[in-house]
Amino acid sequence: MIIRVALAEAVRRFDNSETPQLDAQLLLMDVLNCNRTYLYTWPDKELTEAQYEAFMQRVEARCEGQPIAHLLGFREFWSLQLEVNASTLIPRPDTEHLVETALSLVTDPVAKVLELGTGTGAIALALASERPNWQIDAVERSADALALAMRNRDRHDLKQVSLWQSDWFESVTSQDYQLIVSNPPYIDATDPHLNQGDVRFEPHSALVAEDEGFADLFHIILTATTHLCAGGWLILEHGAEQGKTLRNYFAENGYERVNTARDYANLERVTYAQWNKLARSS
Ligand SMILES: C[S@@+](CC[C@H](N)C(=O)[O-])C[C@H]1O[C@@H](n2cnc3c(N)ncnc32)[C@H](O)[C@@H]1O
Repeated sequence: MIIRVALAEAVRRFDNSETPQLDAQLLLMDVLNCNRTYLYTWPDKELTEAQYEAFMQRVEARCEGQPIAHLLGFREFWSLQLEVNASTLIPRPDTEHLVETALSLVTDPVAKVLELGTGTGAIALALASERPNWQIDAVERSADALALAMRNRDRHDLKQVSLWQSDWFESVTSQDYQLIVSNPPYIDATDPHLNQGDVRFEPHSALVAEDEGFADLFHIILTATTHLCAGGWLILEHGAEQGKTLRNYFAENGYERVNTARDYANLERVTYAQWNKLARSS
């Protein structure tokens, strides 16, 4: 079996994928441990039996719906290659809007930052890679996801990120964060999207929240007031339909300069606001 024919066979079988060509190339690059140029340069190169078998195993798993990121074991986010697994969310390009918003709102070279629900560590590590003098704390409830985030931090040698296990703010004592960020679970348990695509293979604990998806968002907005310094920002990623409710909730709870940023599809995606009082006592 030669490269060109193996790829064509995979593409034919990926008729449910939006990116069949890319999926096939990524899986074969992984098996052959090569880059895309190699596939284009040597289309007639013969695969060994073991290589072909390994490739077809991955093709089979992909046909069953398994995310490409899980089959490869990594995903690119910001400029970082991050290990991923089934313990948490695969980082999404949309979340880069949250990172961009954070970098534009807080321009101090030195700042104290908290991320809640860090998963792979994507947001905290992206911020750390851009702002080497920020002190970044990041918490996560899942022990497996926390271990994953620690491996990603160590691989990229981003020592200024401190990671520990916490149920949201429960084990967070500081009350002087200039920036708190989170992409918490925000999908309603009855949302039909949970039965489609990659999310079928991601844990509900990373995706689903009570109160029509608002429970964790509301909890964070309320409780962040005891952990932000005066002038500190809270930035939250959320579902496209949740922006208005969140803006109202921020305003009702005493935040100012409430605003929402849109994603690449022009959908409301990231809502942020400033806390201009002293931290409330907990
Ligand atoms: C939507 S994922 C976001 C992961 C990562 N920050 C990202 O943007 O790719 C939400 C994360 O919050 C974590 N999480 C859920 N409930 C939590 C809680 N009560 N306390 C801390 N983390 C929680 C989940 O385990 C998951 O890793």
